[in-house]
Amino acid sequence: MRNLNEHNITDEAVRRFTSTPSDPRLQTIMASLVKHLHAFAREVNLTEEEWFEGIQFVTRVGQKCDDKRQEFILLSDILGLSQLVVAQNHKRPPGVTEQTVFGPFHVPDAPHLAPGANIAAGVQGEPCFVSACVQSVAGQPIAGATVDVWQADAGGLYDVQHAEWHDMKLRAVFKTDQEGRFRLRTIKPCSYPVPTDGPVGEMMRALDQNPYRPAHLHFMIQAEGYDRLITHAFVEGDPYLDSDAVFGVRSSCIGNYVRHDPGVAPDGTRLEVPFYTLDYQFVLQPLA
Ligand code: BEZ
Ligand code: FE
Repeated sequence: MRNLNEHNITDEAVRRFTSTPSDPRLQTIMASLVKHLHAFAREVNLTEEEWFEGIQFVTRVGQKCDDKRQEFILLSDILGLSQLVVAQNHKRPPGVTEQTVFGPFHVPDAPHLAPGANIAAGVQGEPCFVSACVQSVAGQPIAGATVDVWQADAGGLYDVQHAEWHDMKLRAVFKTDQEGRFRLRTIKPCSYPVPTDGPVGEMMRALDQNPYRPAHLHFMIQAEGYDRLITHAFVEGDPYLDSDAVFGVRSSCIGNYVRHDPGVAPDGTRLEVPFYTLDYQFVLQPLA
């Protein structure tokens, strides 16, 4: 077809993407994407200069990515797209722990540590003792679940963001015991900005967007017969709970991190500084 104009080009593009024998799901996705992209260009009356600026922006996002930095995930997160896709794929009935964005800082193959181990060894911060149980909706403990935990340091950076740190810190894998419980020592998490030294940060500044995430621990919990849970334990009272830069906060994922005066900690050690405890519960969704 030739002589296409601004009114009929969308139908022709959709026809091309859907009229060959091909993968039907891919055709559905591409046809819808083309329709929405064209509608967007029409709605904002996109100029050629703006479109070229957009292409340069996406190019810079790609150029910023490497084995430690995933600027496209960050872009998807701050657009709210990651949390939208998570929410529509992990609908949870009340009482089941909600799924949240994964974020770009999970690292596979973190060390497997013994119950109660300190994942913050050698890292400055306020001591925090986490004791949690993993259970079914009916309250049955889930033994032998794999619990991946990761967090930022007191300055808001993950180990992979410290060029001078060569080993993994503030991340580990634990197993739940027969009562479905696991314990660990760490430092109390702090609120921190998402990385703003790249093109996504430039865009956020141009739009005067808050880059901060409320303080949190990340968890990924896997057990046979259950949907893999990726979630956060946010800190009650954090000032960014209602303005999370990546739209990840659910009310059901906020924990009570209790402050204690110096004294005997849950692991029996005597601490000369105040410390925190978090008693938390995860409820897993059975696979359909
Ligand atoms: C995080 O919590 O680690 C995170 C999530 C999304 C974007 C950036 C950071
Ligand atoms: Fe985080």
